[in-house]
Amino acid sequence: MEGAKGEQCSQSKNSIPRSLDSADATPFEEMVAVRNAVETQILGGDVLSHSAVELLPGFRNVYKPRRLFVAGVGGRMVGRAVVSWLASVNSPVSSVNVEVLRRHRGRGIGTALLDRMERIARESGRATVQSHVEHSALTGGSVISPPTRFGQLSLDDDPGVRFLANRGYVLEQIKRISFLGLPMDAARLNELVQTAQRAADPVYALVEWTGATPNRWLTDVAWLKTRMSTDNPTAGLDSVEDPWDEARLLQRDRDQQASGRSLFTVAVEHLPSGRVAGFSELSLPDVGRAARQEDTLVLSEHRGLRLGMLLKAANFRQLGARADLIYTFNAEENRPMLAVNEAVGFRPAGFGGGWRKVLI
Ligand SMILES: CC(C)(COP(=O)(O)OP(=O)(O)OC[C@H]1O[C@@H](n2cnc3c(N)ncnc32)[C@H](O)[C@@H]1OP(=O)(O)O)[C@@H](O)C(=O)NCCC(=O)NCCS
Repeated sequence: MEGAKGEQCSQSKNSIPRSLDSADATPFEEMVAVRNAVETQILGGDVLSHSAVELLPGFRNVYKPRRLFVAGVGGRMVGRAVVSWLASVNSPVSSVNVEVLRRHRGRGIGTALLDRMERIARESGRATVQSHVEHSALTGGSVISPPTRFGQLSLDDDPGVRFLANRGYVLEQIKRISFLGLPMDAARLNELVQTAQRAADPVYALVEWTGATPNRWLTDVAWLKTRMSTDNPTAGLDSVEDPWDEARLLQRDRDQQASGRSLFTVAVEHLPSGRVAGFSELSLPDVGRAARQEDTLVLSEHRGLRLGMLLKAANFRQLGARADLIYTFNAEENRPMLAVNEAVGFRPAGFGGGWRKVLI
């Protein structure tokens, strides 16, 4: 965790703490508070807030290393910036994110942090910089769209949109953030599962589990995770295959356990081959009742058979009454997934922008 040059900025260098019990964990907790404050303000609520315990394993993930910078004013942390990259593949992409508390904006802190991230990206040779940023819902006024024409962001109301557009970033993709209030009507949920199950019978069978991936499915789920990196629509953003194997999946399961989040997974087994044809994951925090939709994928050779709906509805049923809300991010051009989510009752709540700039 490092300081950045900004107005009256503190400068120091620490490593990401091993655990939150260690003496050097306080700055990490302050950084999480900055993240939560900025993102709560963008979305008008704290549904997407995470605790330091939940986020720490991600910051120590060896498959996706991160460098974290914070900006301080008068001894108080007021901003943060993260640069990350894929370790297991030769990719030209650096992912960056910069956040500054509202009261301290417009004084050059965001620019100083972004300049630092870009310098690191350039020096590492991963000079295609991409940023996935949360943006507020539309309130009218001028808008900006990606080249695909799917979705719009407000140019007038969102400082992040202006900030990136003014620094040469191109908006390549918009994701829709959607919320589903729970509980769902139990009869309707059963009907969704049963209708989709009738369409899938007798070739596919549901398999459900909570927590770590059962040994029997490690190879198949690792393969599905690899496919997630290529089959998810990415519009004009750079994407490369990010390979998963059993060891990486087992590490993910250990990280999930350490984060205090519970993982609920549903898969469909293709009975003739005994292989998994698709899966869907939800995670739920230890404290709080907003569940996060994680990966959902049906392998291309099994699509068009309502397995997407089967997976989602069955997993919502497995989650049951433990959550009050599920949130999800979907590309605006991902019509098949949005159609399933809209049919279940998800409503738009905000946006995620996918921005790209090639440094010269
Ligand atoms: C985007 C964000 C990081 C900008 O942080 P910031 O500290 O306000 O950034 P800066 O002060 O460097 O620049 C903000 C604006 O103030 C202007 N500015 C900077 N110093 C100034 C000064 N001394 N006087 C007048 N204007 C100034 C900049 O030119 C810039 O204008 P622009 O956005 O129209 O280009 C902040 O708004 C934020 O956290 N938003 C939510 C997260 C987000 O969207 N992040 C996107 C980046 S990955």
